[in-house]
Amino acid sequence: MGWVDTTNQVPTVQYGVHPTSLLNISVGKSTTFTDPGTAKRKVTMHLAVLSKLMPFTRYYYKIGTQGGGYSDTYSFMSPPVAGTPTTEPLSFIVFGDMGVDNPQSLPGIIADAQAGKHHYGVGVGDFAYDMQEENGKRADDYFNNNQPLHALTPFIVCPGNHENAYNFQQYTFRWNTNPVNTGLLPANAGSEVAGQPNNWWFSRDIGNVHFTAISTETWFYSQQKHVKDDMVKWLANDLKKANANRKQVPWIVVFGHRSMYCSCDGDCDGAATTVKKDIEKLFYDNGVDLFINGHEHNYERLYAVHDEKYVSGNGNLVKNPAAPVYIVTGDAGNREGHEKFSRAQPKWSAFRSNTFGYSRLTVHNDTHLYWEQIMTDNGQPKADYGKVIDTMWLIQQHHGPYAQKESQIYSGTVSHVTHLSKLTGLDGPGHKNVYAERV
Ligand SMILES: [Fe+2]
Repeated sequence: MGWVDTTNQVPTVQYGVHPTSLLNISVGKSTTFTDPGTAKRKVTMHLAVLSKLMPFTRYYYKIGTQGGGYSDTYSFMSPPVAGTPTTEPLSFIVFGDMGVDNPQSLPGIIADAQAGKHHYGVGVGDFAYDMQEENGKRADDYFNNNQPLHALTPFIVCPGNHENAYNFQQYTFRWNTNPVNTGLLPANAGSEVAGQPNNWWFSRDIGNVHFTAISTETWFYSQQKHVKDDMVKWLANDLKKANANRKQVPWIVVFGHRSMYCSCDGDCDGAATTVKKDIEKLFYDNGVDLFINGHEHNYERLYAVHDEKYVSGNGNLVKNPAAPVYIVTGDAGNREGHEKFSRAQPKWSAFRSNTFGYSRLTVHNDTHLYWEQIMTDNGQPKADYGKVIDTMWLIQQHHGPYAQKESQIYSGTVSHVTHLSKLTGLDGPGHKNVYAERV
């Protein structure tokens, strides 16, 4: 559990399974991060480990300082034991590309958190726009704005291109709550971050899902290219081990920031191809079920696709596919506005929308996974805020390497939906062209 405050006292968490009886105490550690901007602004971060939690149990807690003040009482669900069935389907809120300015999805996301509509969260990069601005105060603004969500929802996240300033320092230090299993960032990641927990790529089993986070940014920034090969090597090993553990943890979901497949604009060509060249075969060989990313400020759900070709799926169902499904959810809202679809919809693209929104992933059991896209766009009719505009059942009864299985290829007409806003002014320029930053 991590937080930032302005005290220099001993950070402490009081917690327990009853909101009025927080008898357990965890004493944390504090570290100071100095933003490299002109003000050399210092931020004191606290990190406390809550150990020996009962699995998949709601815990209540307060954070604060011994002898000082404490926060309000919040709660969270502890992680389930990997491979052990849970008492209810696991649900995850998923979003990407949320800024301090114009976070149109945030009220809906917070309302979901407070209503208990998800257990955990997945953030697919680009936070705050940008965390280092105003000497790092922008990051404080982001976490203050999003506190009602994060105080209730344990998150795993990956870095995006908007985290690239000062060699990803704000991301590396601020998101030090990621449950890393990849040790410390090595010396060749850069002296600014070396020795910090490696939250650029890591994996974690949550119930019956193996989540793997990757940094797609390692392909695109000069200071990261030294570690890209290390990450890909680790990914190959991670997916191989996860695939060997299917009986315990059947689903494999990988997430990163940039697209491997999308159909909106030029990002879906060169950059996507660069990433695919190194890892698409790993996904295929190890039977990755789903890849989720952001970066495009829109929503696009793909069918099962491999090597640029449609494999299977129709409408809202993808059953026993012989390739991964890809989903772009980068439309939580930020100052860069919407990203239009300037290209025709390919056969492998099931549904796309250029409205703001976020997603929910519900893992019902070892074979059935449900996906929803929730529209939260202030430019749309008010009554539609929070409306589910797209759903998908992903059914996989034979998890594993795709080359070994026969695809249930649909031979009829395949549905393709483009859900474009009818209101003017929503087809904004999208994110700035970042090709110039690439190496
Ligand atoms: Fe991005």
